[in-house]
Amino acid sequence: MNDSRLDITRAHPARRYDYWLGGKDNFAADRESGDLVAEQFPAIRTAVVENRKFLRRAVTYLSERGMRQFLDVGTGLPTADNTHEVAQRIAPESRIVYVDNDPLVLSHARALLTSTPQGRTAYLDADLRDPGVILADPVLRATLDLSQPVALMLVSVLHFVTDDTIAHRAVRTLLDALPAGSYLVLSHATNDFMPADAVEGIAAADRATRVDFGFRTREQIAAFADGLQLVEPGIVSTAEWRPEPGDDPPPAREDTAGWCLLARKPHTA
Ligand SMILES: C[S@@+](CC[C@H](N)C(=O)[O-])C[C@H]1O[C@@H](n2cnc3c(N)ncnc32)[C@H](O)[C@@H]1O
Repeated sequence: MNDSRLDITRAHPARRYDYWLGGKDNFAADRESGDLVAEQFPAIRTAVVENRKFLRRAVTYLSERGMRQFLDVGTGLPTADNTHEVAQRIAPESRIVYVDNDPLVLSHARALLTSTPQGRTAYLDADLRDPGVILADPVLRATLDLSQPVALMLVSVLHFVTDDTIAHRAVRTLLDALPAGSYLVLSHATNDFMPADAVEGIAAADRATRVDFGFRTREQIAAFADGLQLVEPGIVSTAEWRPEPGDDPPPAREDTAGWCLLARKPHTA
C-alpha cells in the first residue's frame, strides 16, 4: 500500500493488539512493544482475548434486542467475529460503520466490508479525536440513519485518547448526534488492580516504543457514561459482563485489567 502514515518502525496499537491476539498483521516494532508490555503484565493475552469476547457478547446482546445499527470506532485489524459478522448472523439487515485511524486497518478494510446483501458495512479512515468529521462523512450518512438508535462502540480505544478533555468531547459529540434508545458500548484498560511498578513499567515501554496510551480508573471510565442508563450488571471487568452459560469462570480482574459497560441513552439525556 502507498500511505505515508504507515510507519513500520513504530509500534501501532492495532498491530500490537493483533500480535497479542496471535494474528499475523504485525511488524517487529509492534512485537517488541508487545513483548515489553507482556514483561510487565504477563496476563496481557488473557486481557485482550477477554476484551474481544466482551465485544462479541455485547453485539449479540444488542442484536438480540433489536439493535440494527452500529458505529464501531477503533475497529482494529479484522479478526474472528468482527462486529458486522456477529450482528448480521443474528439480523442480516444490520448496518455497520467502522472507523479507525490506522492506515494498515484501512488497507485490510475489504475484510470488514463483506456485508450480507440485506445489510451494509462501510469503513471510514478517520480519527476519534475529530468526531465532527466522522459524523459529517457522507458514507456514514448513507449507511446509518441517525434518526434511529445506533450502538456507539468504543471498545478498547479510549485509552489511546489520553487527553481527558479531548476524550470526553469525542464521546459527548458522538452521543449527542444519536437519538434516545442508542447505546454506548465501552471497554477501557485500567490500572486499578496493577502494582505501581508494573504501571510505571508499561508507561516506560510505551514511551520507548512511542505508543500514546493511558490507563483510567473505574471512576474515570464511568464518567464517559454520565447521563446514560447502565445495563445490568453495570461496570464490571470485561470477563464478568454477561458470561454465557457454560463459559469457564471469569479470570481474575487483575488478569483482565479492563472495565466495561453498556449504557442506554434515555429520552431525557
Ligand atoms: C486495541 S484495538 C481495539 C480493536 C477492537 N475495538 C477490539 O476491541 O477488539 C484499538 C484500535 O483503535 C484504533 N485507534 C486508536 N486511536 C484511535 C483514534 N484516535 N481514532 C480512531 N481509531 C483509533 C487503533 O488503530 C486500533 O485499531
